[in-house]
Amino acid sequence: MTSQYTPSFPSRLPHVGTTIFTVMSALAAKHQAINLGQGFPDFPCDRTLIAKVNEAMLADHNQYPPMIGIPNLRNGIAKKIQGLYNHQYDPDSEITITAGGTQGILTAILACVSPGDEVVIIEPAYDSYRPAIELAGGKTIAVSLQVLRDPSGHAASYAIPWDDLEKAIHAKTRLVIINTPHNPTGMVWQKADLDRLATLVEGTSALILSDEVYEHMVYDGAQHHSVASHPQLAARSFLISSFGKTYHVTGWKVGYVAAPAAMTAEFRKIHQFNVFTVNTPMQFGLAAYLADPSHYENLPAFYQAKRDFFKAGLEHTPFKLLPTPGTYFQCVDYSGLDIPEAKLSEADFCQWLTTNVGVAAIPVSAFYDKPTESGVIRFCFAKQEQTLSAALQRLQTLTR
Ligand SMILES: Cc1ncc(COP(=O)(O)O)c(C=O)c1O
Repeated sequence: MTSQYTPSFPSRLPHVGTTIFTVMSALAAKHQAINLGQGFPDFPCDRTLIAKVNEAMLADHNQYPPMIGIPNLRNGIAKKIQGLYNHQYDPDSEITITAGGTQGILTAILACVSPGDEVVIIEPAYDSYRPAIELAGGKTIAVSLQVLRDPSGHAASYAIPWDDLEKAIHAKTRLVIINTPHNPTGMVWQKADLDRLATLVEGTSALILSDEVYEHMVYDGAQHHSVASHPQLAARSFLISSFGKTYHVTGWKVGYVAAPAAMTAEFRKIHQFNVFTVNTPMQFGLAAYLADPSHYENLPAFYQAKRDFFKAGLEHTPFKLLPTPGTYFQCVDYSGLDIPEAKLSEADFCQWLTTNVGVAAIPVSAFYDKPTESGVIRFCFAKQEQTLSAALQRLQTLTR
């Protein structure tokens, strides 16, 4: 509550309101809609993981851990990255445990972006990038993914806008932010894409922030291509990952950032005055659990089954499905529906869908700064089969 004694002050983020995820989740709750909007699992995590965290608490691992994270967890991460992407990060000087991917992103941006520096992002983009750049005083240079359309003009898939990226990246570029697998489109970068990015930044002083929080959600036998697997990119990249996504514990907010020692040193200067340390028992629990790779090795099959189940049900709706090679998001085009609401903006369509059909989704337009409508909305399929079935039953009442 403000009073006459509260001085006025200018907002540091004047354009920021409540995120679309919070808005849609509140609307879903109000209308008892099935929430396929916000990206979080509605099923429990493995009890073994919880037992390991409990064990850590009972063993009195409840005080401040080392600022950079406990050694066992950093060692485990280094081993995992070496095994999967064939790059050796030094766990002591190149890996830092963070309070989720979001804090890793903010801290990395604050560590390297100075007022006036240009930061290239690719829209649709995860919503924390822009405000973080703004807080650092940087200038966001946004390029848009190309929307590839089918013969009837509906969105069919996305492609990296290489020409625009080439124009956007130059001597003044401080940072380029990429996200693969990509939220919200599910797009996955290929090895050739990383090669092309490496060529674009070669000879510039641009660093890379690679948001790979969905690294273990890549389907149909395909592979995730991490910047860690690309020596030229690894040498200039902050690699961001999140245990929340991988272990179905989004509420724990534990993640990590891997980067070359010189970049990590600057990162840690900010980190130590930002959060300083991250939840000790969770770190012990995750370190013990990470030693067995089976969970993340099985994750693609686990989520692919959900994707395929949801997709098969959506085939009986009038939505047009876009490809989902990665993440736990399915995008659909609604602009071909034979109902007046097909003409609504993405945000209004999502409101209508939540209120009248009882299923919440997220408008892809919310991931752009400037109004950009392509008639596409995003569903999250990280849900139990019964939740997906109930949502599909409701969506199947929509007519073509
Ligand atoms: C692309 C992307 N990056 C980062 C995050 C944040 O991860 P965390 O919950 O670990 O902060 C999310 C969460 O939805 C995301 O989708």
